[in-house]
Amino acid sequence: MTGAAGFIGSTFVHLLQRDHSIVVLDKLTYAGRRENLPDGVELVVGAIEDRDLVLELTEGVDAVVNFAAESHVDRSIADQHAFARTHVIGTGVLLDAVRERGVARFLQVSTDEVYGSIEDGSFTESSPLDPSSPYSATKAGGDLLVSAHAHTYGIEALICRGSNNYGPRQYPEKLIPLMILNALNGDPLPVYGDGRQVRNWLYVEDFCGAILAVLEGGRAGEAYNVGGPDECENLEVVRRIVELTGADESLVEHVTDRPGHDRRYSLSSAKLREELGWEAEVGFDEGLRRTVDWYRDNEPWWGPIRSGEYREYYERHYGRALG
Ligand code: NAD
Ligand code: DAU
Repeated sequence: MTGAAGFIGSTFVHLLQRDHSIVVLDKLTYAGRRENLPDGVELVVGAIEDRDLVLELTEGVDAVVNFAAESHVDRSIADQHAFARTHVIGTGVLLDAVRERGVARFLQVSTDEVYGSIEDGSFTESSPLDPSSPYSATKAGGDLLVSAHAHTYGIEALICRGSNNYGPRQYPEKLIPLMILNALNGDPLPVYGDGRQVRNWLYVEDFCGAILAVLEGGRAGEAYNVGGPDECENLEVVRRIVELTGADESLVEHVTDRPGHDRRYSLSSAKLREELGWEAEVGFDEGLRRTVDWYRDNEPWWGPIRSGEYREYYERHYGRALG
């Protein structure tokens, strides 16, 4: 599993480690943390673009699941280089190794953002890819390489496109953990633009359940959408966090909008439901309550993050806007 020292990958490892032997390849960027992984799981520190290392690690494995990514849209707007390297070059290196080593299954973890923004209705797997940020454009590039390798070489490669995930151990640059930690610390809650953008929220364990179902039972060469059960405007998400944390509503501050900000994401998960019987189990109210409780109880996890690289990023990104 690549990138599994991050948020979603580490949740997947926690769910699977009892019944599977897992090796994690992770570069440990600012978002990857050794302590996210349970004891007993082997971590190799390195990049998925490293051909020799990837060839060595894929010898004798049954499956490769690729979580490795630069995952934050705002950082991709500031500098896209690492995004192209990891999402396109890195995915290509993994696919070559899967072919050369005869690995039985390859699963690419991808995102609803490759379809772009949609005003009404929901994207299906046959909707055209129309990404709008450097993050989503490079993720789409990776997805296209996966489909091309399945088509050209007949490898058993699959893609899972998830909507916005949330839950424990998410790096606090993302909307929900950022708002929770700022609310708990009495800091401003920076809402981009009018805050009426809509996201389709998916509890991280539900996404991991879908990834496992697709890895085990999905049809080779296919993509599967994994949408969350609840849509919500950003302002409403923030309002609920204010309520759950007991913070003061006056902390909410509208700041300059994200350039090229996608207005609404929405996925149809009908294919996944009909073919593999997957359903999300955790609704947004329950998932958000669990997430707020986790951050409230885990200061040793987030305390060091908020005082390190994150602080520099935060000041660079929000500093002027928040005075
Ligand atoms: P994350 O930023 O928490 O973790 C990414 C991990 O990848 C980190 O551990 C990092 O060290 C590692 N990494 C980065 N570049 C690497 C490289 N070149 N080689 C090896 N490791 C590298 O991200 P996340 O939120 O857990 O996302 C995981 C995957 O799920 C990504 O592919 C992302 O595009 C996708 N996804 C995320 C969401 C979401 O809401 N967070 C939703 C849908 C899909
Ligand atoms: O949709 C799936 C994608 O969800 C994943 O592929 C990405 O890896 C993940 O980062 C996420 O992308 P978003 O851009 O939707 O997530 P983010 O948490 O950055 O922002 C969610 C919404 O909240 C978006 O409309 C921007 C807004 N926002 C975000 C931040 C960080 C704010 O209003 N203020 C903020 O400070």
